[in-house]
Amino acid sequence: MSHPSTLPTVRLGADGPLVGTQGLGCMGMSEFYGPTDTTEALATLDAALEAGVTLFDTADVYGSGANEELIGPFVRANRDKVVLATKFAIERRDDDVHYRGIRNDPAYIRTAVDASLRRLGIDVIDLYYMHRRDPAVPLAESVGAMAELVQAGKVRALGLSEVTGAELREAYAVHPIAALQSEWSLFSRDVEISAVGAAAELGVTFVPYSPLGRGFLTGAFTDAGELAADDYRRFQPRFTGDSAAANAALIAPVQKIAAARGVSTAQVALAWVHQRADVHGLTVVPIPGTRKRTRLAENTAAATLRLTEAELAALEPIASEVAGARYTDMSSTGAARE
Ligand SMILES: NC(=O)c1ccc[n+]([C@@H]2O[C@H](COP(=O)([O-])OP(=O)(O)OC[C@H]3O[C@@H](n4cnc5c(N)ncnc54)[C@H](OP(=O)(O)O)[C@@H]3O)[C@@H](O)[C@H]2O)c1
Repeated sequence: MSHPSTLPTVRLGADGPLVGTQGLGCMGMSEFYGPTDTTEALATLDAALEAGVTLFDTADVYGSGANEELIGPFVRANRDKVVLATKFAIERRDDDVHYRGIRNDPAYIRTAVDASLRRLGIDVIDLYYMHRRDPAVPLAESVGAMAELVQAGKVRALGLSEVTGAELREAYAVHPIAALQSEWSLFSRDVEISAVGAAAELGVTFVPYSPLGRGFLTGAFTDAGELAADDYRRFQPRFTGDSAAANAALIAPVQKIAAARGVSTAQVALAWVHQRADVHGLTVVPIPGTRKRTRLAENTAAATLRLTEAELAALEPIASEVAGARYTDMSSTGAARE
């Protein structure tokens, strides 16, 4: 198929900036998905911008700050074109690689934003997300503190990640929310329970993360045991043991459609997310993650690939048949609070 040189644009939230309808997830450039190469990562950022990608996604927790530091110079060099999204709320500990603490209290938020601004080397974050929700802190208190960051000029727009539809509405009543970022793919559709409908109703842009099922939907690996010893996916229930084998078989219809259309499996998976959003009347900006320039033309072209009704019907049963949860510990996901 032909590759458009630029992506169509959509608005972020009710009155946010226009962004390319597919963003770039930068997480894997610093951690989680195998070896990283700084030169290639930086070249990938430039190539993404050239391809029409303008929403670049990071978080303070990725590489414990290293991901923000990595992309900072790129953001500064292209400040008028890049819409930079980062996140707070997940704390890590040096002595336990698996430890994740959730912090939503206002004092923490005020410290976190300054640390992100410093690492990125910028004075304002375009989109600041609460990465995970701590139900022990009233949502209005956390969103109130985030709104104060907007008033202080440190943040332009607010986002939430892994919240339910009810939580999104509650937050929106405190301050407009531009974007909801949660996992959404052929393998992970729990957001369709309530979050997607609430986002559509409120005019919140949905930013599906892991739209390629952390790479599994591309068929690049069929068991996380094939991956590097420190690859995060080795610890995820879906990608190991009997679940991996069962889930690998579920990709067959994706591969069949890709072969018949002369496109890649990744492109079918991404096109599905775009079209599923249309069904819900929702603006969507998926953020496939990659460390490599070679993926960009392929992934951005998927934003304009249209699957037929018959193809969509063939893909429909997949999510309900997936074996294994999407996290080892699901307790901090929106799905756990539905
Ligand atoms: N809010 C949250 O809680 C949360 C959680 C997870 C992720 N995120 C964000 O979402 C972004 C995307 O999610 P993700 O990175 O977890 O998963 P993903 O986008 O579903 O998949 C990324 C994986 O797919 C591979 N890949 C990308 N394009 C490909 C292609 N065309 N063909 C074959 N393989 C391809 C990448 O490898 P290569 O690098 O080799 O291309 C990487 O291993 C992250 O970067 C991060 O910014 C947010």
